[in-house]
Amino acid sequence: MKKIIIVAAAALAASCTGHKVDVTVAIVPQPVSIEQYDKLARIGGTKTSINEILEPEEYVLTIRSGKATIEGGSEAGIFWGRQTLAQIERQCGGIVPDITVKDKPQFAYRGAHLDCCRHFFPVEDVKEFIDIMAMHKLNTFHWHLTEDQGWRFESRKYPKLTEVGAWRDGTMIGREWGTDDGVRHGGFYTQDEMKEVVAYAAERFITVIPEIEMPGHATAALAAYPELGCTGGPYEVIKEWGIFPDIFCVGKDATVKFLEDILDEVCEVFPSEYIHIGGDEAPRTRWIDCPDCQARIKAEGLANEAELQSWLVNTIEKYLNGKGRKIIGWDEILEGGVSQSATVMSWRGADGGKAAAALGNDVIMTPNSHYYFDYYQTRDNVANGEPLGIGGYVSLEKAYSFDPFEDLDDSVKAHIKGIQANMWTEYIPEWSGVEYRELPRIAALSEVAWNAEGRTSYADFVERVRTALVPAYEENGWTYADFAFRNPPID
Ligand code: ACM
Ligand code: ZN
Repeated sequence: MKKIIIVAAAALAASCTGHKVDVTVAIVPQPVSIEQYDKLARIGGTKTSINEILEPEEYVLTIRSGKATIEGGSEAGIFWGRQTLAQIERQCGGIVPDITVKDKPQFAYRGAHLDCCRHFFPVEDVKEFIDIMAMHKLNTFHWHLTEDQGWRFESRKYPKLTEVGAWRDGTMIGREWGTDDGVRHGGFYTQDEMKEVVAYAAERFITVIPEIEMPGHATAALAAYPELGCTGGPYEVIKEWGIFPDIFCVGKDATVKFLEDILDEVCEVFPSEYIHIGGDEAPRTRWIDCPDCQARIKAEGLANEAELQSWLVNTIEKYLNGKGRKIIGWDEILEGGVSQSATVMSWRGADGGKAAAALGNDVIMTPNSHYYFDYYQTRDNVANGEPLGIGGYVSLEKAYSFDPFEDLDDSVKAHIKGIQANMWTEYIPEWSGVEYRELPRIAALSEVAWNAEGRTSYADFVERVRTALVPAYEENGWTYADFAFRNPPID
């Protein structure tokens, strides 16, 4: 008897959905499937549950007569379903259709990076960055914390890193190398603040991966502890942008000990499985003339300075593995040979990533050609009134068009674990400048990260962003670039 009642109720519910419609609400990223009906009702209440048949981040959102149900493979899946529900509610003004939306992400790693070193941004801004990521269903925040121009991670063991290394006495003016504005700039995050950011992100199902650069981009650390450089200094926190020759002296045991000590503190603050150890843009010229570095090369039987960098990466990797962590490094870590357990972040285009994947390493694709969101968004950036930037050109369409699997065999494809956009802040002194560069390009990243192989069309994507996300940007008071939404659009 009970069974019959349930069946009858289910049939009634099905008939309540009305007729299926062809044109559906706009959702970004485009879900795996949407079934929408011509029945509308005022939204009223949401129920959630975990369904272990679903993948952890997968969700099914159902609305019937205004009542929403979200099933997720885990709480994370439910959270992504909530973002979709918010998009529907916002565009429907509270009167929502009967609808079933199913989605699951193509990539387990969906990242956004923020450089808080070239310019320092307070915790409130970092939290807003995390809010933006959450709205776009991204799950990995790569936090760039150390640089030539400022060290931002509070170390209790090495306090001069923030007393000295977090401050510079000026910043170069525009693109005029050799000038500086004479204005002291800096700041750092206390360990408590960083833990607060980790917790804030975790509530939004976002993992924070910290980056501690080595051996290059280390001048701020050397300004604080000059004995860790090859020449002994003196060094000062750098005021202009570029690549600088004074890197960590890897010949000295004290430097390795310093890096391990810092990573001990980093691991206390950040519970992430992965720690990013940088590795990019390290000129190895000082090592050539350094007796300590040359002695290390000899003692370890290394062929050259590139292998000395690999020796550092391998030493640090073993150290972190011993603490139950794994490393990620920029694609330069491939140069002197790298262990297969390191994850490679491909930034100089996608070739480094393809080479790493062919070697069997896991890869995060973050090619500057498509995912350097500090690059200009239009071809004629001056005529279009874009703020001064580092250069380059990544339009919304370019960001949308990236194919993470281009030219890859199926056997190698499995090593592409995800994609990420990077936000370098040399030319971004104001927080609104980060918003402007991130939005709406981060929506394109999201679209590829969730559904790289099921994209609809760029024109369709732009319309969905306009309908589903731009009102949210406006509600939040976020600055965004509108070139793609103009009539005609500007590329
Ligand atoms: C980088 O842009 N130097 C990783
Ligand atoms: Zn040295």
